[in-house]
Amino acid sequence: MTAPPHSRQLPVLPVHGSRSAMTCLFRCGNACSHPAPNTSDNEYFGDVATEMSRRGLLQAGGIGALVVGAGAAGIAVGAAPAAAAPAAAPTHLGKPPSGSGTLTFKPIPANTLDTVIVPNGYDNAVLLTWGDPILPGAPQFDIDRQSAKAQAGQFGFNNDWLVSLPLDRKGDRLLLVVNHEYTNEDLMFRDFTSFDALTVEQLKIAMAAHGLSVVEIERVGDTGQWAPAKRNRRYNRRITAFTPMRFTGPAAGSSLLRTAKDPKGLTVLGSLNNCAGGLTPWGTILSGEENFNQYFVGGDGVPADAQPALARYGITTTARYPSGSRKWERADARFDLTANPNEANRFGWILELDPYDPDSTPRKHTALGRFKHEGAEIVLSKDGRVVAYMGDDERFDYMYKFVSSKKMRTGNSAAARAHNMTLLESGTLYVAKLGFTSASEIDGSGKLPSDGAFNGTGTWIPLASGNKSLVPGFSIDQVLVHTRLAADKVGATKMDRPEDVAPNLRTGKVYVALTNNSNRGTGTNPKADEANPRTANRHGHILEIVENGENNAAETFTWNIPIVCGDPNDPNTYFAGYEKTKVSPISCPDNLDFDAAGNLWISTDGNALGSNDGLFAVPLEGPERGHVKQFLTVPIGAEQASASLSDDNRTVFVSVQHPGEITGATVDNPASTWPHGDFAQPAVITVWRHDGRNIGA
Ligand code: FEO
Ligand code: CA
Ligand code: CA
Repeated sequence: MTAPPHSRQLPVLPVHGSRSAMTCLFRCGNACSHPAPNTSDNEYFGDVATEMSRRGLLQAGGIGALVVGAGAAGIAVGAAPAAAAPAAAPTHLGKPPSGSGTLTFKPIPANTLDTVIVPNGYDNAVLLTWGDPILPGAPQFDIDRQSAKAQAGQFGFNNDWLVSLPLDRKGDRLLLVVNHEYTNEDLMFRDFTSFDALTVEQLKIAMAAHGLSVVEIERVGDTGQWAPAKRNRRYNRRITAFTPMRFTGPAAGSSLLRTAKDPKGLTVLGSLNNCAGGLTPWGTILSGEENFNQYFVGGDGVPADAQPALARYGITTTARYPSGSRKWERADARFDLTANPNEANRFGWILELDPYDPDSTPRKHTALGRFKHEGAEIVLSKDGRVVAYMGDDERFDYMYKFVSSKKMRTGNSAAARAHNMTLLESGTLYVAKLGFTSASEIDGSGKLPSDGAFNGTGTWIPLASGNKSLVPGFSIDQVLVHTRLAADKVGATKMDRPEDVAPNLRTGKVYVALTNNSNRGTGTNPKADEANPRTANRHGHILEIVENGENNAAETFTWNIPIVCGDPNDPNTYFAGYEKTKVSPISCPDNLDFDAAGNLWISTDGNALGSNDGLFAVPLEGPERGHVKQFLTVPIGAEQASASLSDDNRTVFVSVQHPGEITGATVDNPASTWPHGDFAQPAVITVWRHDGRNIGA
């Protein structure tokens, strides 16, 4: 069956805020249509914040440059997998970061074109597309002959976060690790009418299209372009909704994790809704399970005492089939909570995957808590412990961090790596509570307070340490499995959808992408506060955290908002005081990365200014701080899901998620024909400079 010509009727334009209703349904299970699940009455911290003098704040925030040592270890490459232990990005393959950080590219304009737009002097090409064969024996993609077996060997759907890891000393071979967050069956099956009408085989195709891919790639010539490796693809791997995984940490084996098929509560099949992630200094990757709630039905049939915790995670406990149910229980009974009430507790974790060992069992680390994990990004504390920063991406949910009990061992020996692989199994889990300097001036408009900044202090409140709960009335298992409820109890600060929480390895400062919050200050919802200063926040903002004592393990910090996103012509936007006429409009920051010079690269999700989503870069230090410049836009309906700068800074890998995902679009009536001119397909692209020099500089 061939697709009809392009003169077809266009699908309807986005109707649900800035994001297509189709995206809301498939990606988040219509989360925005439901009340935000945080109905806790944990105190509104504006009521108790101690006003702090600006002078005192400046002193507390006067941090010098902190260069984290993780990047100095060098890279053991071309060695046995167990010894392949790349240093934390940016590693630069032994070269020091170059340049002043000045971004010289000419920004591209906002647009709604059905293609990828990059600045003059740059080029881009598709690297991997949904359905590309990854594993030996996997067939070439054919949308009309797809099977679950084929999909399990092919690149998954809706690529989200990605990262590259080195495979050789020259830097000409890399491992690309990619999350596959969710499926959109409208855009996968020509005959899609409803989830009820899908065959069991089609349900299993969707399950196999979730998870992660590990793909060996190789440099094209001496350019910044990359292609899938043609030979020696022994590291290639697919993780799906069926891949066996192991629980680690204090809640492994908990009665809350046990099911009939796993009476010990130690093993689980698959990973779901893998959104963002992080790279560890020992060469593994972390992946966050985000909107896992949407895969479960039958919440109304679980015992009454288990329902409040399910509800706090967005699982409906009043209807057997919440709207938009994927009906996976027709293919696999574990997704029916009436029959398997604990199965949902086995998702919502950070998993660690060793891409250098294709036979390794991924591990879900209970010590890092359970929530709608956006991702986890790592930096070392002053004394060499591992600090993982994490966001819970839901309106009015929280920012977290984990500090390991043990210190990281440096070097690339197998013994050091084996030790480091245990670091995320025990430590202290914290949630953030913010204090304000201008609480009484916040009126929800976004107007800057008279002290010239949205800023304040903060405390990391410990929830659990090692095997010990620090929350009254909660066991250690309850803190880690029902982390949201524990964080409610200690009065964590309700944020505007904390997505990526990313430490800048050049400075130790931490950046939080707060995407938006349509409910902020509406009805009985929490009002705007200094850290979330706009009512019905449409465009989001970036928060900067400076840990006290230049130590990422500190329990106190200062914070400020360097960027309040939107149209720079809107007086209620802020770009760190930079001249607004020179700034690119930006809306809905989501994923964050840094280049070798320490500039922040921001991917957007749901641009509410009428442009396609895109990738932006902004210096964070010096006179250029706040000078946001748009680097790239993705096609119609797509999300600029993630960008990752290569260690040599010559390539940016870009994840183009859900192109053409606009309500009414189908395979045969696509809203986008990117990338291959027929129907829309999620894909990863590489972007490079014609002259081969550093990206952005
Ligand atoms: Fe999957 Fe929070 O974005
Ligand atoms: Ca202030
Ligand atoms: Ca995201």
